[in-house]
Amino acid sequence: MDLVDVDDLTTDELHAVLDRAAELKAAQRDGTSPDHSPLADQTLGMIFEKPSTRTRVSFETGMTQLGGHAIFLGPDDIHLGHGEPVKDTARAVSRYVDFIMARVFDHADVVELAEYATVPVINGLTDDAHPCQTLADLLTIRERFGFDTSVAWVGDGNNVCQSFVLGAAMTGLDLTVATPEGYGVDEGVLKRARGLGGDPTLTNDPEAAIADADVVYTDVWVSMGQEDERQQKLNDFEGFQLTADRIGDRPLMHCLPAHRGEEVTDDALESENAIVWDQAENRMHAQKGLLVWLSEQ
Ligand code: CP
Ligand code: NVA
Repeated sequence: MDLVDVDDLTTDELHAVLDRAAELKAAQRDGTSPDHSPLADQTLGMIFEKPSTRTRVSFETGMTQLGGHAIFLGPDDIHLGHGEPVKDTARAVSRYVDFIMARVFDHADVVELAEYATVPVINGLTDDAHPCQTLADLLTIRERFGFDTSVAWVGDGNNVCQSFVLGAAMTGLDLTVATPEGYGVDEGVLKRARGLGGDPTLTNDPEAAIADADVVYTDVWVSMGQEDERQQKLNDFEGFQLTADRIGDRPLMHCLPAHRGEEVTDDALESENAIVWDQAENRMHAQKGLLVWLSEQ
């Protein structure tokens, strides 16, 4: 079983992963874990074509805490990207490790990795999806508010948003997605979300989306690999910036890293409403839950 996107899990499986994550988090906090090393002697191979702070550190630390080990495979460390095809990398690395996590540009590459690998492949972000972020976001929302909550996504409708749309559909969150025209969620993703019972409201009006929401969520306007589009995107996203004044007393979510002064202001991110550090911490707990759950399948 792989996690190329959130909807590779059934709704029941998604809740089971979140339950496992919550158990492991509680056990770590109060020292009650019956088994501190469920992944003893197991190894996670971590392939990175793009930079990362949270994904790399949370997966590596998580594996250590579970009694296993993680190997960082950066863009200059392996032959992937230097002539060896994805399918060969998948089959060779599968002969050594117990799980593969991959952060790549082209979503088709993680699909191919999953097709050829003989161990579970976990998507650590592609241009189109970021399911591990969604697991952490859902864990954070469940802990703080429960799923009977309305969330306004304000910003780009790409990878982080798209996985969140699927996760929201699977958990019954009331979601409004406000993007500039031309930056909306992919039609195929919307179709999958609707097939899962989701019905996100789509708008180009950030103000209306925020007004009706319990929680506000944003992501960078200039994603990794889009640096050449920077000026165009700054122009196109004018009016979508989240300021402390604009969000009022609504909790603020952000997957991070944040580009202060672009999608979010410093005062919003530094305000008591920002729950971004809990989200970041929950990356590790959610992924620990996922890894242990995968090992039990
Ligand atoms: N949110 C997230 O995936 O952060 P990193 O790019 O630091 O891994
Ligand atoms: N949309 C951002 C998310 C970073 C975690 C990017 O792809 O760079």
